[in-house]
Amino acid sequence: SILDAELSTGYHFRPIKNWINDPNAPMYYKGWYHLFYQYNPKGAVWGNIVWAHSVSRDLINWVALETAIQPSIKSDKYGCWSGSATILRDGTPAIMYTGIDRADINYEVQNIAFPKNKSDPLLREWVKPRGNPIIVPEGGINATQFRDPTTAWYADGHWRLLIGALSGASRGVAYVYRSRDFMRWTRVRKPLHSAPTGMWECPDLYPVTADGRHRHKGLDTSVVSGPRVKHVLKNSLDLRRYDYYTVGTYDRKTERYVPDNPAGDEHHLRYDYGNFYASKTFYDPVKRRRILWGWANESDAAVDDVAKGWAGIQAIPRKVWLDPSGRQLMQWPLEELEALRGKRPVSIKNRVVKRGEHVEVTGLRTSQADVEVSFEVASIDGAEALDPALANDAQKLCSMRGAHVEGGVGPFGLWVLASSKLEEKTAVFFRVFKAARNINSTNNKPVVLMCSDPTMSSLNPNLYKPTFAGFVDTDIAKGKISLRSLIDRSVVESFGAGGRTCILSRVYPTLALGKNARLHVFNNGKVDIKVSELTAWEMKKPALMNGA
Ligand code: FRU
Repeated sequence: SILDAELSTGYHFRPIKNWINDPNAPMYYKGWYHLFYQYNPKGAVWGNIVWAHSVSRDLINWVALETAIQPSIKSDKYGCWSGSATILRDGTPAIMYTGIDRADINYEVQNIAFPKNKSDPLLREWVKPRGNPIIVPEGGINATQFRDPTTAWYADGHWRLLIGALSGASRGVAYVYRSRDFMRWTRVRKPLHSAPTGMWECPDLYPVTADGRHRHKGLDTSVVSGPRVKHVLKNSLDLRRYDYYTVGTYDRKTERYVPDNPAGDEHHLRYDYGNFYASKTFYDPVKRRRILWGWANESDAAVDDVAKGWAGIQAIPRKVWLDPSGRQLMQWPLEELEALRGKRPVSIKNRVVKRGEHVEVTGLRTSQADVEVSFEVASIDGAEALDPALANDAQKLCSMRGAHVEGGVGPFGLWVLASSKLEEKTAVFFRVFKAARNINSTNNKPVVLMCSDPTMSSLNPNLYKPTFAGFVDTDIAKGKISLRSLIDRSVVESFGAGGRTCILSRVYPTLALGKNARLHVFNNGKVDIKVSELTAWEMKKPALMNGA
C-alpha cells in the first residue's frame, strides 16, 4: 500500500518482508561485515525462527544471502534462537546458538556451527558438526530459560562464554562456561553475576578502555585485563523489554563480575531509553572500534504488520566507548552513515527561540533526515524544582510533563515528522530541573531530562505510543547541550549530549509523510533558548538494502 511505502524505513536495516528480531553473530570476516538475525520466513509475526544472513562492505549497504542456520538436527528442530560468533585462534569463525529441541515446551540447548568453506568471505553455508548439542541445561538449571550464548573470550588456555538464564522465580543469571577446545564446555559453579530482575536474555560482556588517550578505541573481546581495562555487562530484561548495563570489573581467576556502582543493577543504566532490545556488540578490527546492534520492534498493531507484510528493523549501528567519567557508555551512529547525507544541508545559526515559539526548518525534505543541533541556555535560574518522588523516574516525569506542558528551562527541542497544521508531531526534547539529588547528579548539578514524546505522533488511534525518557549525565550549568536525531519515516532515533542518552521511537504518522513531513525547533519553557547551530541533511537511501 501507499502507506506502507511511506513508512518503510529508508536507511535503517530491514528485510524486504516478514518478521525480524534479535541481531545475531555480528562479525567482520575477510573484507565483509556479517549480520545474522532472527527471522520468520513465513510471516510478519514471531515464529518459525531461523537465522537470516546479510553482508556488507560498509555497514550501510546490505546484500541478503540465503538462510544461514535453520532447523536441521534434533537439537534445533523447533527453532534456531539467538547466539553469537567467535573468531577462533586460527581465524575460523564459530557460531554458538540456542536450539529448541522439544515441541511441547521451549527446552533450550546450545549448538555450534562452522562455515562449510572458510575461504568463502561471504560464509554462505554453515554446517553443524556431530556432537550437537554441545551444552545442555544440567544441575538444576531451568531448561526453558537458558539461552543466547555470547561471543567467547580466551585467556590462560581457556575459552569462556556466557549463557543467560533464570534462577528461581525472578533471578536473572549469567552462567560462565569454560572450554579448552571450544567443543567440550563445563559450567563454572558460581555464575558471573546475577540480580533480582527477571530472566536475562542476550547477555553481552566486553572490555572497554578507561585510558583517556585511547578511549574511542574498542578492544577485542579476549582483552581481559590491563591497567585501564574495565568491563561492561549488558542484559536484556525479558520482563521489561529493555537492555540495561553496568560498568564494572571482571576477574578471570574467580570468573566473577562486580559492578562499580553497587546499585547499578537497580538503577538500570540503559543503552537506549526507547524501543531497543536484544542488542549485541562486536569488535571491528578494521577501525578498532566496538559496534552495537539492537533490534527495534514495531509499535503498531500486529494486524497492521501482517497487512504491511514486515515487522522489525535494526537500529543504526552505533560505536560504543566509555565516557571519561567512567560511569557510563557513550554511543554514536557509525561515521559511515554520513555518506548518505545529501549534498545541500540546511543550517540555522544563532537563532533565539522565545517562550512558546517554534521555528520551522525549511528547504529540505525531512521525512528521511539527519539533524544535528546545539542549544544554548543563558541561565538555568528559571528551572523548575524536581519533585523528589519522581527524581529517579524519568519515564513517569516525562509522561506527566510532556512536550506541551510549559516549564522553566524547557521543554525545548525538535518536533519531527510534523504535519503542516501540527496535528501530528513527535517531540524530542530536554527539560531542566533545579539541582537535586538524583541518580545522575552526584554533585547537585541541575538535572537534565531527555524525552521522546510520540503522544501526538499520529491520528491513527490503534497504536502503542509510549513516552520514553532518560536522564542525561551532563553539566548544563555550562550553558550548552546538543541533540542529534535520525529521522527515517517510522523511526526517530535520537542521541542527547553527544551520545550520553539515546532514545529510539517508532511512530506511524498518517499526514506527516513524504514531502508533507516538517521539522521545527520548539521552546515551551518560560526562558528563551538559543539554537547556536542546527544542520539538517536529507538522507539518501543506500543503494543496496537487502533487495528492497
Ligand atoms: C530475545 C529472544 C531471545 C531468544 C530469541 C528468540 O528477543 O527472546 O532470548 O533467543 O529472542 O527469537
